Amino acid sequence: MIKKFYITTPIYYTNQPPHIGTAYTTVAADVLARYYRQQGEQVFFLTGTDEHGEHIAQAAQKAGQSPQRFVDQIANQFKEAWQKLNIKYDDFIRTTDEQHQKGVAKFLLKLKESGKVYQDEYKALYCPHCEDFIFKKDLVDGKCPVHKKEPQLVSETNYFFKLKDFLPQVKKLITTDQMIIEPPERKKEVLSLLEQDLGNLSISRQKVKWGIPLPFDKKQTTYVWVDALLNYLTAIGYENNPKQFKELWPADLHLIAKDIVKFHAIFWPALLLAVGLEPPKRIFVHGFFTVNGQKMSKTLGNVIDPVYLADKYGTDALRYFLLREISFGQDGDFSIKRFEERYNADLANGLGNLVSRVLALLEKANLKDMVAGHAFEAKIKSIREKYRKAMGEIKLNGALELIWQLISACDEFIDRNKIWELVKTDSEKAGKTLGVLSGALKEISQLLEPFMPETSERIKEQIRRNKRTKAIFPRL
Ligand code: MSP
Repeated sequence: MIKKFYITTPIYYTNQPPHIGTAYTTVAADVLARYYRQQGEQVFFLTGTDEHGEHIAQAAQKAGQSPQRFVDQIANQFKEAWQKLNIKYDDFIRTTDEQHQKGVAKFLLKLKESGKVYQDEYKALYCPHCEDFIFKKDLVDGKCPVHKKEPQLVSETNYFFKLKDFLPQVKKLITTDQMIIEPPERKKEVLSLLEQDLGNLSISRQKVKWGIPLPFDKKQTTYVWVDALLNYLTAIGYENNPKQFKELWPADLHLIAKDIVKFHAIFWPALLLAVGLEPPKRIFVHGFFTVNGQKMSKTLGNVIDPVYLADKYGTDALRYFLLREISFGQDGDFSIKRFEERYNADLANGLGNLVSRVLALLEKANLKDMVAGHAFEAKIKSIREKYRKAMGEIKLNGALELIWQLISACDEFIDRNKIWELVKTDSEKAGKTLGVLSGALKEISQLLEPFMPETSERIKEQIRRNKRTKAIFPRL
């Protein structure tokens, strides 16, 4: 039976265009989706945009546009950027889609029927940038520690979800790994969050107009985080395609960063349990990029545009750098200097140079003398196995490191065997060694495919035609 693999990214807020942070998660998800497709699995890769809520409405107002027009433009910018980065998603969901809105209404009615929803007066501090309530004890100098802005005092009647009733079950899901949270330090963090008093979850807003009306009280809109999380269900047919929904749910992997762990690892499974749906199987939490050591922010003016980088250095070079530079799961820093260093060292010299070396030799050699050899088989096999393990554990930089080990091994092999001399003196031996090398190069292109699809194709094409084309990564 063909295995299915349903993978998601967070849906990104449409208050600003994509940047390298959002590109990072999306490229990583695309790599995994391509890898599992290569393995023959039935992959469904979902990404999209989160378009409701107060801070989006405010951004639209600032731009002098209606919220819908505003989000339409930004959603398009996301789609264009993902196309540029060669992201092969199966669906792009927008929370303003009709199918999503209907799905949200269906879910909320179910939640209400479960008896776990009640109305109450709420008075609390709220940070519209986090779209989350914030406790006094967490403020730093009276401000939200993330956005450095004073929260608003919100007082209104809301509907609440009895989150607390489900927390023991959520804890059990996590401790037993029925819902895997990785890396282990994030699992620990969630378990310690569960020890704190989280209160119940307000699921509606009285004063926010830009949102999905509650099906049982049209004067209120759905809290944007509940609206957003439900995209993982509505995109695969929760409301309109029960067959597909049954095939794909539960998600095999939610890929997120550390800023939104609480919503995914606590609120989300609790909501699902309340309506009798299975929790996601696995949540992998990666780290945050800083830019030249600083947090990326509009105010600092250091937000980096991935489309600009892809235009300047090439899509595959950007995909490579994003995933190679930092250990997936940890925080890391982005700088153009590092990007250019890696470009020259790993891509122009490492990979690019090997490809042109091997192809130059292949062009010279008499192809019919070429025999597949064994010298590399053990090495290739061991790298392939380690690579598969790394991909399974989502150690994406580790998988890339392994490919580069093979690249170095090929270079050493050429030097050791002095193949350029063999071609002139011993055509039989040259044929053998070149057979080995072209096999290794094919393997490299295969392992590279999820990360650098265009480059992989170009290498395969050159081997097929036995002909060098111009350098795949010209030195900067
Ligand atoms: N709309 C919510 C998510 C709802 S999902 C049901 C949201 N959107 S966001 O636009 O703020 O995107 C947050 C996500 O973008 C992070 O979890 C991460 O995947 C990615 N990143 C944003 N900035 C990032 C960095 N500086 N570094 C790495 N990833 C970053 O939260």
